[in-house]
Amino acid sequence: MTALVKMSGIVKSFGETIANDDVSLEIAAGEVHALLGENGAGKTTLMNILYGLTIPDEGTIEVGGVAVAPRNPADAIDAGVGMVHQHPLVVGALTVAENFSLGGLGDGSPASMLEAVADVVQTIPLEVDPRARIDSLPMSLRQRVEIVRCLAHGVRVLVLDEPTAVLTPNEVQQLFGEMERVVEQGRSVIFITHKLAEVQTIAQRVTVLRHGRNVGSFAVGDITSAELAEQMVGRELSDRSAKGAPRAAGAARLELRGVCAVGDDGECLLDNLDLEVCAGEIVAIAGVEGNGQRPLADICFGLRVPDSGEVLHDDERLPQLRDWGHSKVAIARIPEDRRHEGLLIDSPLWENLRYGPNLSAKRGLINRRHEVARARSLLEEFGVVPPDPMVAPSALSGGNQQKVVLARELSSDPDLVVAVNPTRGLDIGAQRDVRDRLAALRDAGRAVLVISTDLDEVIEIGDRVGVLYRGRLETPIAQNAVDRARIGKAMAGLLDDQQDRAEA
Ligand SMILES: Nc1ncnc2c1ncn2[C@@H]1O[C@H](COP(=O)(O)OP(=O)(O)OP(=O)(O)O)[C@@H](O)[C@H]1O
Ligand SMILES: [Mg+2]
Repeated sequence: MTALVKMSGIVKSFGETIANDDVSLEIAAGEVHALLGENGAGKTTLMNILYGLTIPDEGTIEVGGVAVAPRNPADAIDAGVGMVHQHPLVVGALTVAENFSLGGLGDGSPASMLEAVADVVQTIPLEVDPRARIDSLPMSLRQRVEIVRCLAHGVRVLVLDEPTAVLTPNEVQQLFGEMERVVEQGRSVIFITHKLAEVQTIAQRVTVLRHGRNVGSFAVGDITSAELAEQMVGRELSDRSAKGAPRAAGAARLELRGVCAVGDDGECLLDNLDLEVCAGEIVAIAGVEGNGQRPLADICFGLRVPDSGEVLHDDERLPQLRDWGHSKVAIARIPEDRRHEGLLIDSPLWENLRYGPNLSAKRGLINRRHEVARARSLLEEFGVVPPDPMVAPSALSGGNQQKVVLARELSSDPDLVVAVNPTRGLDIGAQRDVRDRLAALRDAGRAVLVISTDLDEVIEIGDRVGVLYRGRLETPIAQNAVDRARIGKAMAGLLDDQQDRAEA
């Protein structure tokens, strides 16, 4: 095997945490190489080192047989390495063309920027207006802009950190097609994912990290998904499912009647939506991002008032978030954008854990020692690594940040749970843990609404399953009556009655 990338003896510590512990890794030319591991295993850190964003304490890197020591991404790109992050790093307030020119294409004038993009898209289709602002684009297109931008620099190694977490099944297929084109040209893709099925589909080889160490590299044909899972966690995972027998749901806890939401430009975001979530059931709503999930979640969180229609909690108007101090409703909110809406990213975890559905401050006083002790036990219970109440979320891996939000929101016995993409970015064990917790809340008679772009998650979690498309809800139906192909079509707006409506 000719190694295109060779990382040897990489060590990186953050304080007491050893993120990479003597890791060596070889990537062949022309392969998709998957990188697997539990949350906090050190995947992003290792790739940040290759991309010059993190400087290792020890170890060497060769790309194409030449020793390199990238001090920043520009060095890495010069050496032929590009990376697209777990959280897109393109600048939201700039246009597509401006983001391209940030990467050094064109001379910075608007005309040259557009020209540079036009050059690029002749060879790599982008299908985006270069004048569009990044933050007006759905996640899948933002990601596409980043990938195309990397490829435009002629990189030989493309690192993709959990790229499929924000994509629909269809978009995943498109991305895989792109990855195949890249490796056919003799370039390589390093692909981080938590989905073992994706590894089996697209990768030729796979490396597993556990607690910062490389526990092995395997040819994908030589190892099963079960064996990979075992390598990741260091023990056998039992094969059980959170799904109990379907049971009768109780009275409606959350009810939306004829809810409409209108956007800033007068566009219809939610169109006459009716929805009931009853005590003792999980309703899960699938949909491609940008089809109304955002306003729907905000309305159910009590953050947004519908433009018409009613939102009821136990037959009374759902209180707005600012009124919660005076209401007895405890809603667990798991927002889509955990970094910006779910967490105070630079404040210690114990502070982050205070603002749950049940505030613990009495008469405005905080018992700090009590709070820190409570935080520590919550962090341990939810498997956050490290379980240190004094560190900030910014020092945690992506999956561990999500666990902090879940720990805060699910720990305090909420009446109602509204969760957007609750298991996004979590490793297999943590995903199962969250599903079990949601099921336990359901079994304890709580009402749970899950809104997710991950169809597998929706079908696995939901007792009833619906689809949101262009602000319209396909009425949720019992999970055991669900036809996966039909839901896929509904997500893409391809059902006959959806098309009739669109034409009407
Ligand atoms: N800037 C930082 N400061 C302190 N600790 C950090 C920092 N970045 C990462 N770590 C720690 O290094 C370890 C590895 O984190 P890393 O982000 O590489 O994990 P990961 O495998 O990508 O996990 P995930 O699947 O959750 O994204 C974690 O324990 C994390 O808390
Ligand atoms: Mg990561």
